[in-house]
Amino acid sequence: MASLMSRFFKFGSQNMAIDLGTANTLVYVQDRGIVLNEPSVVAIETINGIKKVKAVGEDAKMMMGKTPDSIEAIRPLRDGVIADIEIAEEMIKHFIRKVHGKRSLFRYPEIVICVPSGSTSVERRAIRDAASNAGASQVYLILEPMAAAIGADMPVTEPVGSMVVDIGGGTTEVAVLSLRGLAYTTSVRVGGDKMDEAIVSYVRRHHNLLIGDATAERIKKDYGIATIPADGIGETIHIKGRDLVNGVPKEITISQANIAEALSEPIGAIIEGVRIALENTAPELAADIVDQGIVLTGGGAMIQGLDEYLREETGLPVSVAEDPLSCVALGTGRAMEDPVYRGVLMTA
Ligand SMILES: Nc1ncnc2c1ncn2[C@@H]1O[C@H](COP(=O)(O)OP(=O)(O)OP(=O)(O)O)[C@@H](O)[C@H]1O
Ligand SMILES: [Mg+2]
Repeated sequence: MASLMSRFFKFGSQNMAIDLGTANTLVYVQDRGIVLNEPSVVAIETINGIKKVKAVGEDAKMMMGKTPDSIEAIRPLRDGVIADIEIAEEMIKHFIRKVHGKRSLFRYPEIVICVPSGSTSVERRAIRDAASNAGASQVYLILEPMAAAIGADMPVTEPVGSMVVDIGGGTTEVAVLSLRGLAYTTSVRVGGDKMDEAIVSYVRRHHNLLIGDATAERIKKDYGIATIPADGIGETIHIKGRDLVNGVPKEITISQANIAEALSEPIGAIIEGVRIALENTAPELAADIVDQGIVLTGGGAMIQGLDEYLREETGLPVSVAEDPLSCVALGTGRAMEDPVYRGVLMTA
């Protein structure tokens, strides 16, 4: 293992760390930092029965919900696991090629890629193989909550317990870390996607209005809030969609309090995951968490008032990481570069 690692660190500057997320994929290049950040979406076009990649990333996401029958915008990762391995591999290849540019031919990079802590060995092998097939000479894996914690500057190498809650698109991972290891981890299949779905179904149930996922996501990012606003109403939101009764486009108005109501179920599930993790944490580590508090990472951490709500529910200090959407990629990159984190990288 040690010789493997020293070989790894000797290599030049094109080694990469990849956060292959349900919603977004980020690529970190050694000594350069994050160089790519795009939605994990692939648009596939079928012509005469033959499938072809039409667009990947940002370009493909813009097509979501707006494609003609011959084009399908696919998210190859769902609920934090690979739903379509072939398309996922195409996506990884595309991003690696994009990062490498013209220099792609001179050698194959070594790649560190993060995997959900709850992934099975079959899923991990699938991710490894996809990265190998995409041109990696060697693939290392890192558990997502560990990467998130390193990226959030948490003291993961010390004999001190700390808790990270990474709220991604597909899953929320809750982990207690100490001495480069995960002392406890649990994963809830609730994240930003479930919040978007909750908004879609709220608007349909209460206003007979059909809206797309992209619209719901936009509303969540702009107005999403964990609890009813102090004045009981909050901001006013105009939403456009299709009327379910007569089929025509229409606009409705709802309040931010309505959004809090819509989000209460997914947010409740996240809080419940944290509660379960705390109940299962060894007493010495639990005592550390009282001092260290809980750090939130992932895009979902940016829901307004979520930190405050979690603070009230647990009685513990809660903070949001500085750049929640980048933590996992930064942490994966640091684990690749800094020997102090050796031991958190896995070969299988
Ligand atoms: N300002 C914001 N407020 C609320 N949610 C946000 C905000 N910005 C992004 N999000 C949501 O965060 C999610 C993406 O977060 P992130 O990139 O951490 O997920 P991921 O790593 O791709 O997913 P996973 O870790 O589950 O595989 C999306 O659902 C997105 O809508
Ligand atoms: Mg993630």
